[in-house]
Order: sequence, then structure tokens, then C-alpha cells
Amino acid sequence: VEDSPIMDPSTKPDASPAPAPAPSTYSLAFKLAALGLVVVSALAGTGLARWLREPAPAAQPPQLALLQWPKPDTALVLTGQMHGYLLPCGCSHPQIGGLERRYNFLQMLRDKGWSLLPLDIGDVAQKESAARLPNFQGLIKYRYSMIGMDLMGYKGVGLGEYEAALPIDKALGEILNSKAPPVFAGNLPSIKEVGLAKDWDLIESNQVKVAVTAIIGSHTEAHIKDNTLKFSKSVDALTAIGKEMDAKKPDYRVVLYHGCLTCGKWAQGKESEPVEMAKAFPWIDTIICLTSESEPPLNPTVIKHANGRTTTILGVGHKGRYVGVLGLYRKGAAIETKWDVVLMTEDFKTPPEKAAQQPIVAMMEEYTKELRDHRFPDEKTGQKKTYLEMAPQLKHPSQLAFPGVTPVYVGHEKFPEIADKDERAKKELVCASCHRKAYDVWKSTPHSHAYQTLLDAKNPGNRQFDPECIVCHTVGYGYESGYRTAARTPKLMDVSCESCHGPCSEHVKKPDDAKWYPIINPFRAPEDEKPADKAKRHGRIGEFCMKCHDLDNDVTWSMVGFPAKWKIVFHPSSSDRKD
Ligand code: HEC
Ligand code: HEC
Ligand code: HEC
Ligand code: HEC
Repeated sequence: VEDSPIMDPSTKPDASPAPAPAPSTYSLAFKLAALGLVVVSALAGTGLARWLREPAPAAQPPQLALLQWPKPDTALVLTGQMHGYLLPCGCSHPQIGGLERRYNFLQMLRDKGWSLLPLDIGDVAQKESAARLPNFQGLIKYRYSMIGMDLMGYKGVGLGEYEAALPIDKALGEILNSKAPPVFAGNLPSIKEVGLAKDWDLIESNQVKVAVTAIIGSHTEAHIKDNTLKFSKSVDALTAIGKEMDAKKPDYRVVLYHGCLTCGKWAQGKESEPVEMAKAFPWIDTIICLTSESEPPLNPTVIKHANGRTTTILGVGHKGRYVGVLGLYRKGAAIETKWDVVLMTEDFKTPPEKAAQQPIVAMMEEYTKELRDHRFPDEKTGQKKTYLEMAPQLKHPSQLAFPGVTPVYVGHEKFPEIADKDERAKKELVCASCHRKAYDVWKSTPHSHAYQTLLDAKNPGNRQFDPECIVCHTVGYGYESGYRTAARTPKLMDVSCESCHGPCSEHVKKPDDAKWYPIINPFRAPEDEKPADKAKRHGRIGEFCMKCHDLDNDVTWSMVGFPAKWKIVFHPSSSDRKD
């Protein structure tokens, strides 16, 4: 896929959450996995696979195990590894996750009279932005996520590799003037000294005293390339913090631990870091750790200590799709617990009539307005630019195909400035003059109004200014001569011919020059194609489509299947050509 000349959007944007079974053979899936975005494997057993096939009818109260619990004295609400997935993009249904639904879920528990103590392990924002943009969007998202968590009454958030990628000082600077929950960093003395984070705290929730700290484990530390950060060893930090905690006599002790059960040392056949910590510090009641899989583990890992105590190790998965709830029940001097992970399904969506009062809905509106309005100085010229305009423009593979010629994007119509769409189409079309059939098919598919979809988006609006949406809903964003802004490149709105065929100026200039054909269409069926070869070719086309119809954005892809989707967009040049 990598070097296919008609390959499009240069990077995978980190837009929004959604579950999807990952066909492990896709190089795309591997790429995403490498980015830490998607590692889905065992959906079966989580109930998710079934749920995907049979979307729960909306407006029906979700059937949650925890709603059958007796009311806990307090409940820890545990989240983390959101990776910038603030809100489902709405590209397909049903998508899962998002701060808005999380808010509604917590409100539902509070309405039942529950007292909650929400904590987030960290890895809040994305490490990289769409289309190789400088990751200002990650910083902005970090701020809005922290504001959102503050609105939900979070009492603490950890720091990890994803914050370090922002990097940490910028992330913490970003929230200096915002309302945000306290940040915990138990083994980052340099951050604590300057007053930007706490090493631990005693938090009282409905008279249950919970001691909380956060630790960055050595495996994660090794991945953090920021030599301004000074770490202390997790063992030393926990020893010191444990003593301080003891003096305050907490009822329950929680460690937000950046180390995971199934990576690092575990991959070398050794005990994983969280297990190691649990064994070394029997006073820890619960460790919330990272998971390498995007689904949380089905069952907690429980470590039994010689003194009869236990330490429970929990994970909550990625992208904010799940919210973990640990009910705490006083039983004499001891605390008993109940654990559940709740999938943030469409059941938790804000009913339209309540949207105006929903604080996260309002916050997301602010977020997209900020992306629209903020101006960034260009590194070289100092000229102020919108975020959208800052995308570096790389060479598309077609632009490298023949030395000395650089095809540019021409768009499918010549007079995009004419306001009326139909008038415009009558004037002059670029490709349709020779490829009318292909054009007519394309016109009838949703690809032809993909930009309008962004203009029409509500709650939040202004999506046409968000690179994380633009990258798949326009032509050639992030490539030389590709989409920039509506004003500068009106010809390149929508998912048009060159979204798939690449920049075509040279072909339009010399339509008979056959050397360009395989460049603009590497998927052409050879004469007398054998069924097995056709299946392979279709496989390649399908992988190409999944650049945009990926696991997050198009959750229907694997259910509907490539053949059905291809049938809708297939545009043979002659009507007797069957595919
Ligand atoms: C990785 C590519 C990609 C990105 C990024 C992306 N989209 Fe999409 N979008 C798609 C695809 C593919 C579809 C069609 C899904 C399908 O086939 O069901 C779609 C469909 C949609 C639709 C549904 C249109 C309809 O008529 O049902 C909306 C709304 C939408 N996108 C909004 C957004 C927003 C808002 C963003 C940014 C937050 C965004 N998209 C980012 C690829 C993307
Ligand atoms: C002046 C006529 C003309 C224009 C304008 C034109 N083409 Fe073509 N195109 C041709 C001819 C001729 C061929 C080669 C014969 C064929 O495959 O139909 C071709 C072939 C193609 C092929 C198939 C190559 C192959 O081997 O399968 C693609 C894809 C294509 N054109 C896309 C476009 C796009 C996209 C545009 C607009 C940006 C465009 N063309 C504009 C005449 C034109
Ligand atoms: C550049 C990104 C991009 C590529 C590449 C792409 N699509 Fe799409 N596709 C979209 C977007 C965006 C939408 C949603 C348009 C809207 O409604 O706003 C969409 C919608 C669709 C739809 C209609 C919704 C649905 O799922 O029924 C079909 C069918 C479809 N695409 C098929 C394909 C196929 C087949 C390919 C590969 C040959 C492909 N697409 C390649 C971005 C892309
Ligand atoms: C969603 C991606 C996508 C879009 C959008 C798209 N194409 Fe294609 N097109 C393909 C793929 C994939 C093939 C190869 C399939 C094949 O040759 O059978 C193809 C094949 C073609 C061919 C060769 C067909 C043949 O029978 O020889 C032409 C010509 C063509 N496209 C022109 C266009 C034009 C013109 C537009 C815009 C009006 C357009 N395409 C939009 C993906 C796309």
C-alpha cells in the first residue's frame, strides 16, 4: 500500500473513537498499531462483536451490570489512554466513546445519588497530528480534555508518554490558565518542584479517604525522549510516597501506573512491571495500568500477598471507549470492591433537546471555533496562518514518478467559483468531458458531497477548519498543490477523482500519453484476468479505500464488505465492462 502511486492522505489522523475488528493482515492496521492507535484483536468475549452487529436501539436505557449494585460508599471512575479521541467523528454508526457520553454517564450515576471520584491515568491527547502538522492540535486537545474532565469532577490525572510527546512542559503550560484537575507525577521531582504537579494526595469522597499517586514506569520512561525531565526510580518514589500515605491513614490506596501488563518486560517472558510493583508494595490496593490492547482486559489481575491483603491491577483500554467503575464498600475497617467497565455506546448520547445545556457539547463548540480562529506564526516567514493552512505539503508518489515533471491537482471542474453547483457543472467540467460515465457515477455517490458534509456538521460545527476531518473529505490535503483552504483551493473540495487517482494535470494536458495510465490507475484489470488475480486486485483496491474507510471512521466497512461498497463507486468506462 505504502508506495501505491494513487495512495492518499499522507498520515492517519487521530480523529475519533470507534471499535472495529482489525484484519491483522492489513499493513494499515500495522501502521496504526505502530502509532499506538489501534491494536484490536479479541473482540469476541467482550460483547462488543455482537453489539456491533446488532446496534442497540437508541433511547433504551443501557443494561449495565453496575446498575444492579448496591450503592457504593464511593466509586472510583477510572479512565485513561484517550489518545486524543474527544468525540466520535460521526462518519459511521455505531461509534463508541467521547467525553460527552462520559459526562452523561457520570451524571446518570450522580443522579442515582452515587458519590464519584474520577481519575485518569493520562495519555490524554494524541502524539502526532494529521497530515504531519505540528502537533498544536494535540496541545489544544489536551487543554480541552482537561477542562472537560474538570467539568466531570475529576480529582487527578497522570502524565505519560503521550504528554511527553507534546512535551510535558508545554502540556502543563497549556492548562496553566484553565480550570483543570490536579496533575499527578509521583516520580518526576522536577515537575513537582515547580508546582505543576503533585506527587500524591489524599482525596476524601463521601468520607472514604483515598490516597492517589501516579508513577511513570521504566519501560515508558525509556520511550520518553525529553532529557529536561528528571525521573526518580519508581521503587524509590513508591517507598517514600507509601510512608507519607501511611501517616495520613487512608482507607484505600491507588497508583496510576504507566507500565503495562502485556508489554515491556512481559514481552521478554518476565513479570510485567505492574505485577512487579504490586508484589513489591503490598500496601497498594489498586494499580490502574496501561494496556497494549485497545480493549480492556476481561478480568482484573489480583495479586495475593502473604499478609492476606490483595492488590488489584486494572486497565481501561484505549481511546476513551470504556469507563471503568470501581465501587468501594466499607465493611468494618476493610473496603470491599466491585468492578465494571462500561462501553460508551450511543445509549449515552445527549438527547437533541438537551444539547443546549450539555457542558461538553458547548466545550466542543469552543474547541472547533478555536481551531478555526487561532492564528499561528509561520516558522520561516512569521506570517500568521490558520492551523489548516500549516500542513506541510509533501510530494505525492505520482509527483515523483518521472523526473522533471510534477503533476499538480487540477480538480474535476473549471469554475468552482460560480456559486450555483448546477450552473457550474454546465459551464465546464475537467474530467467529465472525456469520462462522462465515470463522472456520472461519482456524482451519484456520497464522495461528491463529502465537503458539504463537513459544512453541515452540527454539535460541533466548523469541522471544515479541522485538519482531522479535512484530510479525508477533500482532495490531496497534505500534498503539493493539494487542498489548502476553501478560498485558495475551491476546486479541491469533496472526495473527487484525484483523491483516488492522484494529481492529473499531465494526463489532462496529454490524455493519449499512456505512460501516465498506470500511475493514475494502478488497479486496472488486465485482459482475461483470472479469478484469483482479480481477488488479489480487489484486495489491493480495498486496502486503498481503507486509507479513508479505516477502522475508526468507517465502522461499517468490515460488516458491509468491500464488494458491496465497491459496487456503489465502480465506474467502468464502457457499460459492457463488468468488474
Ligand atoms: C480517515 C478518514 C476520515 C476522517 C479523518 C474523517 N472522515 Fe468523515 N467519513 C469518512 C468516511 C470513509 C465516511 C463514510 C463512512 C461510511 O462509508 O459509512 C465518512 C462519513 C462522514 C459523515 C457521514 C456522512 C453521512 O451522510 O452519513 C460525517 C458526518 C463525517 N464523515 C464527518 C467527519 C468529521 C466531523 C470528521 C472530523 C472529526 C471526519 N468526518 C473525519 C472518512 C473520514
Ligand atoms: C481530453 C480527454 C481527457 C480528459 C480531459 C481526461 N482524460 Fe482521463 N483518459 C483519457 C484517455 C483517452 C484515456 C485512455 C483511454 C481510457 O483508458 O479510457 C484516459 C484514461 C484515464 C484513466 C485510466 C487509465 C487506465 O489505464 O486505466 C483514468 C483513471 C483517467 N483517465 C482519469 C482522468 C481524470 C481523473 C481526469 C480529470 C482530472 C481525466 N482523466 C481527464 C482522456 C481524458
Ligand atoms: C480520500 C478518502 C476516501 C477514499 C480514498 C475513499 N473514500 Fe469512500 N468515502 C469517503 C468519505 C469522506 C465518504 C463520506 C462522504 C459523505 O457522505 O460526506 C465516503 C463514502 C463512501 C461511500 C458511501 C457510504 C457508504 O459506505 O455506503 C461508499 C460506498 C464509499 N465511500 C466507497 C469507497 C470505496 C469502494 C473506496 C475505494 C475504491 C473509497 N470509498 C475510497 C472517503 C474516501
Ligand atoms: C473512491 C476512489 C475513486 C474515485 C473518487 C474515482 N475513481 Fe476512478 N477508479 C478508481 C479505481 C480504484 C479504479 C480502478 C478500477 C478498475 O480499473 O477497474 C478506477 C478506474 C477509473 C477509470 C478506468 C476505468 C476503466 O474502465 O477503464 C477511469 C477512466 C476513472 N477511474 C476515472 C475517474 C474519474 C473521471 C473520476 C471522477 C469523476 C474518478 N475516476 C473518481 C477509484 C476512484
